[in-house]
Amino acid sequence: MSEIKEIYLHNYTKPAFYIDSINLVFDLFEEYALVTSMMQIQKSDADEKHLRLDTIDLELISLYINDLKVDESRYIIEEESLTILNVPATFRIKIENKIYPQNNTELEGLYKSGSIFCTQNEPEGFRRITPYLDRPDVMSVFTTTVIADKDKYPILLSNGNKKEIVEVDENRQSVTWFDPHKKPSYLFALVAGDLGSVNDSYVTASGENVELNIYCDLGNESKCHHAMNSLKEAMLWDEQKYGREYDLEIYNIVAVDSFNMGAMENKGLNIFNSAYVLADTDTASDANFMGIQSVIAHEYFHNWTGNRITCRDWFQLTLKEGLTVFRDQCFSADLNSQEVQRIEDVKALRERQFVEDASPTSHPIQPKSYISMNNFYTATVYEKGAEVIRMIHTLLGEENYRRATDLYFESFDGQAVTTDDFLWAMQKAGNIDLSAFKNWYHQSGTPKLEVEESFSEGIYSLTLTQKIPNAVDGSEQKPFTIL
Ligand code: SER
Ligand code: ZN
Repeated sequence: MSEIKEIYLHNYTKPAFYIDSINLVFDLFEEYALVTSMMQIQKSDADEKHLRLDTIDLELISLYINDLKVDESRYIIEEESLTILNVPATFRIKIENKIYPQNNTELEGLYKSGSIFCTQNEPEGFRRITPYLDRPDVMSVFTTTVIADKDKYPILLSNGNKKEIVEVDENRQSVTWFDPHKKPSYLFALVAGDLGSVNDSYVTASGENVELNIYCDLGNESKCHHAMNSLKEAMLWDEQKYGREYDLEIYNIVAVDSFNMGAMENKGLNIFNSAYVLADTDTASDANFMGIQSVIAHEYFHNWTGNRITCRDWFQLTLKEGLTVFRDQCFSADLNSQEVQRIEDVKALRERQFVEDASPTSHPIQPKSYISMNNFYTATVYEKGAEVIRMIHTLLGEENYRRATDLYFESFDGQAVTTDDFLWAMQKAGNIDLSAFKNWYHQSGTPKLEVEESFSEGIYSLTLTQKIPNAVDGSEQKPFTIL
């Protein structure tokens, strides 16, 4: 066991190296998989001599720098790292390693859900696949080739656009995908299986045709139509409400049975828990249908709020999640009933987030430290985070809010940023000072409002008093801006 380490926001440092491009080859077999990663790397901190890559229980086959085999004396493998000593300022690296997706029960990295190979890499699963700078502020251009038995795994998917299909031999085929958009490793995805699908298309506002596919277990195809309609509704809504269009030739969604989150917004290849894709009128309730509509939209909306503009570090999780939950709540309200949607959202907030915020695990929507990031996918970061965005929307008003989100997209497209960057855009285009409002990001607990009414000598008075809870450590907190 490695020792337990607490990670602090105030210790953030920029990456010492960047990865300009990565070319991945996966050779999938029944007992194991071989992974080859070829990366173009650049040093950004001249004082840093050694390259330390994240990895877990690495089984290394070979290591090359600029096509030369690296001698064992020049690298160190530890439980969670591969350190290559004295690397040059720019170089190519090739790493071959072996992994065991069939034995991976973590539901992180590359694993098998039934007979389907699939991935989950948010927040730190990619290091279980291949050694990498597995942090969201290292964004790279990915090319991925998947090779597998063509009878067992006729469908081979990864991020981006499909580039090439090659018959490797009688039994195996290879499919290559290229994703032109820089992305962090947590958005990498791969799927291989014998899957059924429903297929459709969408023409974007600027006239680009997008192929839409939803993959599922064979036989379940007829249960995917509601998810497909929801996807098209979400694509149109994001164009109309936020001026955001889709940016690849293909959008793929895959439903799998073993998945530890609702769904995941991997670039161009969303992977879903089948509960949020499959529905038919014989077995599904209205709530099931609405749940699917909202999760399909949530993952689609991440393409702009999460993927094209991502988080600098995991303390910024609410930057993408609070904003995307707010966006999916507004989408559901627009497509169904404003009133019912608001009642449901507030009910969920009171039942789950208020309870969390009154407990020993109460934390700000932007936590200051964590031991395991996996524990921070909480109602506070997501749902309270969405309420904070909703207050900004109310403060700015619809028109200024749209100007401010336009500025956010223009200023930070292709970057990994912070909640302060988001608030900068809101302040600038909204022409408003949000410095006091920022307390919502750094303080925890549910404030209480006391309301006093009085009527005397013809004057009605209403007095509102804010009661601010102490933080979990007992320290006093500052007043909140309340709307
Ligand atoms: N990032 C994923 C989502 O928000 C998992 O939580 O849907
Ligand atoms: Zn999300």
